[in-house]
Amino acid sequence: MEDLFELDKKHFIHPTSSITQQQQDGAKAIITKGDGIYVTDTNNNVYIDAVSSLWNVNIGHGRTELAQAAFKQMQKLAFSSAFSTFSHEPAIQLAKKIADLSPQGLNAVFFTSGGSESNDSAVKLSRHYWKIQSKPNKRKIISLRRGYHGVAAASTSITGIPEFWDMAGHLMNDFLHVETPYRSTTEKAITSLQSMIEQEGADSIAALIIEPVQGAGGVLIPPSEYLQAVKDICEFYNILFIADEVITGFGRTGTMFGMENWQVIPDAMTFAKGVTSGYIPMGGVVISDHIHNVLKEKSTGTLFHGFTYSGHPTAAAVALKNIEIIEQESLVTNAKEMGKELLKGFQKIKKDSSIVGEVRAIGLIGAIELVQDPSTNQAFSPQLGITASTINALHERGVISRGVTYDDTNILCFAPPLIITKQETKELISRISDAISFVEQQIGISKD
Ligand SMILES: Cc1ncc(COP(=O)(O)O)c(C=O)c1O
Repeated sequence: MEDLFELDKKHFIHPTSSITQQQQDGAKAIITKGDGIYVTDTNNNVYIDAVSSLWNVNIGHGRTELAQAAFKQMQKLAFSSAFSTFSHEPAIQLAKKIADLSPQGLNAVFFTSGGSESNDSAVKLSRHYWKIQSKPNKRKIISLRRGYHGVAAASTSITGIPEFWDMAGHLMNDFLHVETPYRSTTEKAITSLQSMIEQEGADSIAALIIEPVQGAGGVLIPPSEYLQAVKDICEFYNILFIADEVITGFGRTGTMFGMENWQVIPDAMTFAKGVTSGYIPMGGVVISDHIHNVLKEKSTGTLFHGFTYSGHPTAAAVALKNIEIIEQESLVTNAKEMGKELLKGFQKIKKDSSIVGEVRAIGLIGAIELVQDPSTNQAFSPQLGITASTINALHERGVISRGVTYDDTNILCFAPPLIITKQETKELISRISDAISFVEQQIGISKD
């Protein structure tokens, strides 16, 4: 049989990857198995999966209970449609479970296969919500710069990272991007939001969509008063407030949903990733009773929106088992506790290093910023490729993590599985510390 690396080059177009790099260097690693926080590749290298793969393997790798749940459901009913009001028990039970876990007043769920579909659905549902109330001009969607919401049509457009628009453009006229409160103040971010709404006219704006903590933007945790202030503005101007909980949902930030950290209740919430810990694709949108009531009263014909896999029975059965594990093993509390350990470790790394700027974490999602001068936050020259070098140094030390270099920032992102123990957290910190010291030496900067 041909070498897997050669076959990969010939036949596999990788998502969000450089095709040139793949052709030159081959796949970065071909992963064969996973167990807990660890994954192993074809060369028997074992890595700490320090971003839970794509911020999604919340319960860790190798949980046979989920395989059994899928097996059991597939034997009984692998797939059945939910179109035209056909229904089945796994989707009904999962919708009820998600309603129970969601903030107060969010009780009805539309299912999808992932985050992009969920955000596209949220955009379409919010436009439909206004249209059926005789406000068809309320169509524009506001989101944040550096926000990441996916790669389908609407979700590409709400994503605030312009590189994602280069491939095929985006529908500029109906999508607006406002300042993020990163390295800025709540006041400045709120004023720019308010001026945008005033300028565009609230009558033209359907919804604002926001990640409680921006993930792909570089783990940007908002200032404490920001999200409530945004929610107040949305209420004042009659704009729907949608939380993109695709990363933050299901325990990641030390609460079941990210918005709970700021006690802000959205009008709708999108989710994916952690709902099944990535064992099978699944996502959705939970909407408020108010939106649901408007739909019940006024959306009289067929709702012309649905995916073949909306409410997939096997995915729903896996999600139910995954949520059961999150609850039974108190993984939300563990995320909060281990998040504190992670942050303590980051702070120690900062103390010992001369290239670490801000460090932050909320639950088990955190970041370390690399800067030329931590006292002024002066950025490294992009030519130096400091993030890539550090990610490589981490890889060599058996840590898979993720770097963000957008807008001159050099950010290392971490989001290990929620099952991580204190000992494993210590091990992760020690490897990160070692990798950063190595890079410091390489570029000729170090504290001593
Ligand atoms: C916050 C957020 N929203 C949406 C998405 C898109 O999800 P998916 O890749 O499942 O389509 C992502 C993916 O990383 C995400 O981080």
